[in-house]
Amino acid sequence: MMKAVISDYCKKNNQYVRLDEVSRPSLGQKEVLIKVVTASLNFADVSAIKGDYHALREEVFIPGFDCAGVVMDVGENVEGFSQGDRVAGFPNGGALAEYVSVNSHLTYRLPENVSFDSAASILSIGVTAYELAHKAAGVKESERVLVHAAAGGVGLTLLQLLKRKQAKIFGTVGNEQKKRLIEQYGATKAILYRSEDFETEIVHSTGGTGVDIVFDSVGGQVFEKSLKCLAPYGKLITYGHASGQPGRLLSTDLHSTSRSIVGYSSGQRQHECPSSLRASAEKVLDLLSTEDLSTKISRKLSMVEVNTGFQLMADRHNIGKIIITP
Ligand SMILES: NC(=O)c1ccc[n+]([C@@H]2O[C@H](COP(=O)([O-])OP(=O)(O)OC[C@H]3O[C@@H](n4cnc5c(N)ncnc54)[C@H](OP(=O)(O)O)[C@@H]3O)[C@@H](O)[C@H]2O)c1
Repeated sequence: MMKAVISDYCKKNNQYVRLDEVSRPSLGQKEVLIKVVTASLNFADVSAIKGDYHALREEVFIPGFDCAGVVMDVGENVEGFSQGDRVAGFPNGGALAEYVSVNSHLTYRLPENVSFDSAASILSIGVTAYELAHKAAGVKESERVLVHAAAGGVGLTLLQLLKRKQAKIFGTVGNEQKKRLIEQYGATKAILYRSEDFETEIVHSTGGTGVDIVFDSVGGQVFEKSLKCLAPYGKLITYGHASGQPGRLLSTDLHSTSRSIVGYSSGQRQHECPSSLRASAEKVLDLLSTEDLSTKISRKLSMVEVNTGFQLMADRHNIGKIIITP
């Protein structure tokens, strides 16, 4: 048996999860068994626990998308990993547990100077940001880019990757503290969307043309307004629905301006083609080890304190990543 965090949502009590004893995961032939040292909380955990997540999950499940730890055992068809290796990975079940089993294609060796905390805090957001910038959008040097939720986990990582491309970055944020933070991370213009209309700001700042790329994780009206500030030939990448609402689109929004909409889901890739994420994951860990990419950890909590972490995320008060130790 082992300790794990189990989904148990009760809005009235601000409860998201409870701690419980569950069976240790079994080890498949192509899997690696990891003793978790650090796991992280992601915004999608909050959505999943509330039942708003696009991918179906069991009614009761262990949350957590990413973790780092030590290899305890390897399945008979696994090559390249052995007991004692320091790794990070995307577990099959949830990451908020003492032990997890991970598909070996979704397990990544840690560079010597990368800590378990740093690796766990960046794996999911880092791989997503890297794939968004390099594959989904293919951002080119000096392009004009709009990043929504720019002070979030994916947002701050995207900003760092875009800065390396000398992009002109517009970021939207919910408060002054987040505004100052994204300016430190290289945003050319930080937009406080609660008091400023981001569409007006972008149209004005780009002389009426709009931006080349939009990264949208909010959906709903934000998606619809974003289309209005997308330049001809531009790309809007939709990769989340933090608002809980879908954004609507007319085919006429695209055809006469040669613009395109691209969807991205790292979860879908983990499921359908896990090996396709290896290059991006290893690149992110490498950038972390050479200090060309940084991760912002705001809190380190124990499994008993996870509800506090989820509440901070749901209230949008948290800045940086919350990491969890079993
Ligand atoms: N497609 C993928 O593969 C993939 C992978 C990872 C994450 N995601 C998605 O990417 C987004 C960012 O993930 P993250 O873990 O880095 O989270 P995060 O950005 O740290 O947190 C979400 C942020 O979204 C902003 N937001 C804007 N409108 C919102 C609304 N109506 N409700 C709630 N939040 C709103 C809030 O920032 P402000 O206070 O600044 O508004 C909030 O802090 C999430 O939507 C997540 O589901 C997608």
